[in-house]
Order: sequence, then C-alpha cells, then structure tokens
Amino acid sequence: MSPALPRSVRLVEVGPRDGLQNEARPVSLDAKRQLLEQLAQAGLRYLEAGSFVHPERVPQMADSDTLLRDLRRHPGVTYAALTPNQRGFERALAAGVDEVAVFAAASETFSQKNINCSIDDSLARFEPLMHSAREANLPVRGYISCVLGCPYTGRVAPEQVLALTHQLLDLGCREVSLGDTIGVGTPGDTARLLDVLLAEIPPERLAVHMHDTYGQALANIYVALTHGISVVDSAVAGLGGCPFAPGAAGNVATEDVVYMLNGLGIEHGVDLEALVHAGDTICRTLGRDNASRVARALLSRADS
Ligand code: HMG
Ligand code: MG
Repeated sequence: MSPALPRSVRLVEVGPRDGLQNEARPVSLDAKRQLLEQLAQAGLRYLEAGSFVHPERVPQMADSDTLLRDLRRHPGVTYAALTPNQRGFERALAAGVDEVAVFAAASETFSQKNINCSIDDSLARFEPLMHSAREANLPVRGYISCVLGCPYTGRVAPEQVLALTHQLLDLGCREVSLGDTIGVGTPGDTARLLDVLLAEIPPERLAVHMHDTYGQALANIYVALTHGISVVDSAVAGLGGCPFAPGAAGNVATEDVVYMLNGLGIEHGVDLEALVHAGDTICRTLGRDNASRVARALLSRADS
C-alpha cells in the first residue's frame, strides 16, 4: 500500500530572503521587487520577502525596510520577514509585514555564530518580540536550524530538536520550520527525527526547510509528506544558503518540489511555467546558474 500523503501542500517561498541573503554581489531593489511580483503571479501565497537583522552582518537584507514598505502587494499573499529580536520586530512592523519569523538553532555553536548568543538567550530575546507580536496581532513562525547536523559540531540529537520545538510553540509560534541548514540529512535521518517529534507534536505545527547540499532535499521532503507534514519551504531556482553555514548550498528548488507534487497529485496552487520564468529571470539578473533541475530541463526543451 502506498503511504498516506497530504491532499495539498502549502509552499513557503524563501528565495527572496534565504536565497538572496547569500548572494555575493549586491542585488538591486528593482530585482527584488520583480522577483516578488513574479512569484506572486506564479501563484505562491507565502513569500518570505526579507530579513530585519543587523545590516552589517547580512548586507543583502539591509534594504528590507524600503522593499517591504513600498511593495505592491497581491491580495491573499502573506509577505513575511525574519526578525531575530525586538529591534528587528519593530522594523518589520513599521515596514508593514504580515508575519514575522524568529529563528533559533539546535546547536549552541551555530547559535553563537549566527545570532551571537546561546540558545537560551535567543529564546529570552524572543519573549518581548512575541509579546509585541500578540499586541500587533501578527502571527509568528519559528525556525530551528541544524536539525539534521551542525556545520561546526556535527551530529544533532533529535531530542534536542524536540525540546526546542516545544519551547518555540510554547512561546506562541504558529508553526515551527525544521531547517537542515547545511543539507546533510538523509531520508533515514529525516524519518528518525520526525518519528521523535511527531510522538509529541501534531504534524500541522511543523514545516520542513531543506537545503540541498548533498542532493537529499527532495527525498527528505517526500519522507516528511509521508509523515503528514504539509508545509514545505523552498526557494525558486534553488537560490540560497546561510552566510554563517560555510559550504551550505541553496534551498531545495521550488520548481523541483512543484514538479514532484504534480507527479504525486498533491495540490499546491502554483503555475510551474510561470515559476520557471521567475527563476530564470532572477538567475539572469544575478548572472548565476539555475540550480533547479526541473527548470533546467524545461528551459532547455524550450530552447530546442
Ligand atoms: P547582537 O550584536 O548580539 O545584537 O546581534 P545586540 O542586541 O548586542 O546589538 C548590537 C548592535 O546591533 C546595536 O547597535 C543594536 O541596535 C544593533 P548599537 O547600539 O551598537 O549601534 N541591532 C540591530 N540593528 C538592526 N536590526 C536588528 C538589530 N539587532 C541589534 N534586528 C543579531 C544579534 C541577531 C542582530 C545579529 O547577530 C545578526 O544580525 N545576525 C544575522 C543572523 C542572520 O541573518 N542569519 C541568516 C538568517 S538565518 C538562516 O538563514 C537559517 C534559516 O534559513 C533556517 C535554516 O536554513 O536553518 C532561517
Ligand atoms: Mg535556510
């Protein structure tokens, strides 16, 4: 018997944030606006558009205030941004975001390198932010980095991820996105992690966020689907990486996820052709290769 799969999946498009944060060359506001516009036109309903972190630590995101404030918004699309602390939240609120995301790590060393504090201190920094978000009626998403491995210390125990997931949900996060930041996890690792988490946490509260460094991301997502998880983060053209996770490749490409969901008969609301166009446009603008296998296949067919 084939495993039970969700009828529909909600795609969280992180390309404009996770994708662009790692680009070596400056990306213009116009290019960011065009990307967001084309992604919305392709049918994506959740766009992580920017990040309110320290501008010197992630220069590519320094213009998130302007980008979000002046953005032409599509009705029904959630425009979200990362906020590491109260200062970031205030900037996000002023820019008019629809949702914010806090981000913690399941590895102490990564937490220090990424957000300059311990895991416990990061949770303490989130508390006033969560309070302000409740007052402003803004939902908060939670991320956990390094759920399948840390670039500095290696293996991460599923129990550590479980404890942190509980803490983020208890703080008031709507859902927790499980980040394989360096894309090392295999389907076996993903299944073992999810078996531990789902013994205590309903699948509706979890999302997966797979980077594709070792080419395992789609297989890991398939495992997550068979475990009842129906929220998948991805980045158009497979853009991305984390500036504080050396060697990490981009997120799984949205085009590749959409193609797989089509084959599985799972609804997602995205027009693949329009999505491929969005990915092709940003890759040309950035002068970089398209990391989506599906986009490359479809674009080479169109060329011939
Ligand atoms: P910090 O130095 O510990 O902050 O940085 P602080 O509270 O000590 O403040 C120091 C100075 O920074 C102060 O300025 C603050 O005002 C300022 P001063 O008084 O000295 O002039 N400051 C800020 N300025 C603007 N916006 C802010 C802000 N906060 C403080 N929000 C901080 C802590 C987190 C801000 C810093 O370490 C930082 O920006 N880190 C970057 C983290 C980041 O963006 N990482 C990449 C995204 S996470 C990721 O990619 C993983 C994910 O995709 C999931 C996965 O794949 O695993 C989500
Ligand atoms: Mg990421």
